[in-house]
Amino acid sequence: MSQESILVVDDEEVMRDVLGSLLTQAGYEVSLAPNGAEGLELARKGMYAAALVDMMLPEMDGMTVLEELKKTDPDLVVLMITAHASVETAIAAMRRGAFDYVAKPFKHEELLHALDNGLNQRRLTDENRQLRAALRDQGRFMEIVGKSPRMLQIFQLIAQAAPSRSTILVAGESGTGKELVAKAIHANSPRKDKPFVVVNSGSLPHDLLESNLFGHVKGAFTGAVYAKKGLFELADKGTLFFDEIGNIPLETQAKLLRVMQEREFMRLGGVETIKVDVRVVAATNIDLRRAVDEGRFREDLYYRLNVIAIPLPPLRQRKEDIPALVQHFVDEYAAENSKQVEGVTPEVMQTLMDYDWPGNVRELENVIERGVVLTTGPLIGKDLVPEHVRSRPSFHIPQVAVPPEGINLREVIAHFERRLIESTLESTGGVQKDAARLLGLKPTTLNEMIKRHSILLPRDRDRRGTTRDEGSAVKTTSA
Ligand SMILES: Nc1ncnc2c1ncn2[C@@H]1O[C@H](COP(=O)(O)OP(=O)(O)OP(=O)(O)O)[C@@H](O)[C@H]1O
Ligand SMILES: [Mg+2]
Repeated sequence: MSQESILVVDDEEVMRDVLGSLLTQAGYEVSLAPNGAEGLELARKGMYAAALVDMMLPEMDGMTVLEELKKTDPDLVVLMITAHASVETAIAAMRRGAFDYVAKPFKHEELLHALDNGLNQRRLTDENRQLRAALRDQGRFMEIVGKSPRMLQIFQLIAQAAPSRSTILVAGESGTGKELVAKAIHANSPRKDKPFVVVNSGSLPHDLLESNLFGHVKGAFTGAVYAKKGLFELADKGTLFFDEIGNIPLETQAKLLRVMQEREFMRLGGVETIKVDVRVVAATNIDLRRAVDEGRFREDLYYRLNVIAIPLPPLRQRKEDIPALVQHFVDEYAAENSKQVEGVTPEVMQTLMDYDWPGNVRELENVIERGVVLTTGPLIGKDLVPEHVRSRPSFHIPQVAVPPEGINLREVIAHFERRLIESTLESTGGVQKDAARLLGLKPTTLNEMIKRHSILLPRDRDRRGTTRDEGSAVKTTSA
């Protein structure tokens, strides 16, 4: 460990000498100040682990020096030295942040011991702070927020794959962060200072897409008045990100494969081969494997692209990421809009946790942006959550796990269905029309289900054992 520095503030020269040599011998680096003003000056310039401050100082007294020192560094360990070992002054000093005090005359060991205690405590505080920072950092990778096990795996995959030149296929539903991942790959690669070029493969007809990708020479086709560089050339030494690669027409797929294999191509209408060094990252929100099986995507290109696969899970499969994402977007949009918004109410957080997020992180981001812009208070309330998010069945299915011996899914579901219908009928006093509405069923459907499950209506139960209504649609069972 490097030598720790101690600041001594004492007006008595003898005392400064004694403390100076004592601490130096004990292995500390020491600075001496004869009064508070000089002590503070030193503290503002240097990095001290601890300060020994005499209580009785001319002009600025020890208590004031203590307070000022704590302002320069709240973690500074301050020991007060007092000739008047009155308990009151000692307690007052400690209340204002002194770690301890020693009363003159003191034994050397006594002082060193008190100092050692203080420094140990400080080290613990430092370690805790570092630990907290490290944990916080773990919850994100560059701009990607996530602390679910699956996202931590993704972070590791990105970190491992980024430095190589290998092609990467990022797969995931819309809004799961595919482009963000592609950017993180680029930013963590040796190519980070070179271009990151996005190809929106989506909607273009193949000839236009190809002239975009490979460029064209002057006069290559009607309207090609100037020669134009393609995206492959623009991305040279950098990364080319193919968004929605599954939409690329088959003709273009063949050309793409060739460029990726040979690392050279010709501009449309050109004769000159152009060499490029491009790393390809592709994204897809469709199952490319299936597209291959259905003949819509070339199998050879699929294998070329899928050298390293990064499958991004949908948000509903990593709901533990929601609170961190919410905070991230609240902070982002509060800053962007210069608003003092701190978060969402606990009730809103529960709503956001219950919702299924078909639009994934992008949908969540939009909801939070809207909330931050519209809220008048520091917390986003339920009234600012869009209706469709709120009106999701607030019905909460608890986390369930299948026991090791296994279950019969159909039986369990039937049982669950029956229980839900029973409890709903209970709550409507047996009125089927109301129960059907609560369950989102047509009354006739509910009635069929009641029969199928042989459910006893409350009114039937009341009558059980007395008169049986012959016309009742419901069969009574002894269960
Ligand atoms: N883990 C995350 N942490 C922070 N922001 C995220 C995260 N995932 C996605 N986002 C944000 O959500 C939005 C959508 O992400 P992105 O554009 O990368 O998704 P995508 O998968 O490419 O979607 P699409 O398939 O619709 O193109 C962006 O604003 C992005 O910054
Ligand atoms: Mg995208």
